Amino acid sequence: MPERISVAGGELASLDLFDGVETARLGPLTELLSSRDYGAGEVLLRQGERGTTFMIVLDGAVAIHRTLGAVVTDLGRAERGAILGELSAITGEPRRASVVAASPVRVAIGGRRSFDALLAIPGVIGQLRALAARRLAEIATTVPVDLGHEPAIVLRPILAHDHDQVAAAIRSQPQEWIYSRFFSGGMPSNAIVDYLTHVDYLRHFAWVVARAETLEGVAIGRYIRLREDPNTAEVAFGVRDDLRGSGLGTLLLGALAVAATYAEIDRFHAETLHENRAMQQVLKKAGAHWAFGDSGLMETTFAVADARSVIPDAVASALGAVAKEIVTGAGLAPRFPL
Ligand SMILES: CC(C)(COP(=O)(O)OP(=O)(O)OC[C@H]1O[C@@H](n2cnc3c(N)ncnc32)[C@H](O)[C@@H]1OP(=O)(O)O)[C@@H](O)C(=O)NCCC(=O)NCCS
Repeated sequence: MPERISVAGGELASLDLFDGVETARLGPLTELLSSRDYGAGEVLLRQGERGTTFMIVLDGAVAIHRTLGAVVTDLGRAERGAILGELSAITGEPRRASVVAASPVRVAIGGRRSFDALLAIPGVIGQLRALAARRLAEIATTVPVDLGHEPAIVLRPILAHDHDQVAAAIRSQPQEWIYSRFFSGGMPSNAIVDYLTHVDYLRHFAWVVARAETLEGVAIGRYIRLREDPNTAEVAFGVRDDLRGSGLGTLLLGALAVAATYAEIDRFHAETLHENRAMQQVLKKAGAHWAFGDSGLMETTFAVADARSVIPDAVASALGAVAKEIVTGAGLAPRFPL
């Protein structure tokens, strides 16, 4: 056990995590935390170990990595203000990644009671829910899906580092494709590509279909909850031009429905051009009825449960195993709704 050295309230108040929180509100948490110093190269958290303590980095930087068989995946660095070990604190499950000091590091350490005190601080649950969803997406395994024809494919959640690949893929599509997808002729701005790739998995979720061999992305399907009705989400798809018509749109529709079910989304909404028969046909498989909307586009709203049935049960359950934790923020979302 680390030697108990108290953490000063002011030290926590200056962290971005507690931006806008009065120092007095941090009192109960501060009293329960202790601090500890680590030398560069020391292990703060070890993958596979059980433990419900969490840490807040007060100074220095740490490197996070995950090992699967012989493959070590670098999950980036975290610095002052970062929370570590929160997934085990939430779920009680073994650590899913290892954290090593990349420089001399000082952290605040807490256990279950401190974690409850942390969750009670205004604004923190939202940040933790988003952090848990992002970390789970980053470590998610790819799901192989056998559509019975080439190329062999896998599905995985979209990640922020897909940005450049997505921008390049859109740029290489024909004009008609870009118009069908974005209802405008020009290449979407960098800000829009950012929006499409930096998703929070709770309000906005996206699956990437990638070739199994090269892991090159070939299609994306996403849903975005409607602000005015969070149980309804708008869906959109993009399948690389040379692979259109090979069932990927249908697969993505079913895959989105699997994720949406865990996110308590009941209905999907979609809009498309009158001439986009392929899009209309894919959604008709889920019972969608299309009609002209006020915008001049074709619109439809249909049940997520019907969309779920367009893919085989075995595929749905494999996808569900990956999606469930992510779209619920490791279970924080249902306990503390958006
Ligand atoms: C729309 C899109 C996502 C559909 O994905 P996809 O992988 O091609 O779809 P699928 O292969 O699963 O299914 C396509 C269905 O449309 C049918 N279809 C294709 N073109 C058609 C047409 N001109 N008329 C009628 N049906 C058509 C296919 O026969 C197939 O139906 P089936 O399975 O009953 O035979 C894809 O074509 C695409 O990315 N288009 C460009 C971007 C876009 O339009 N996005 C949608 C707006 S958000």
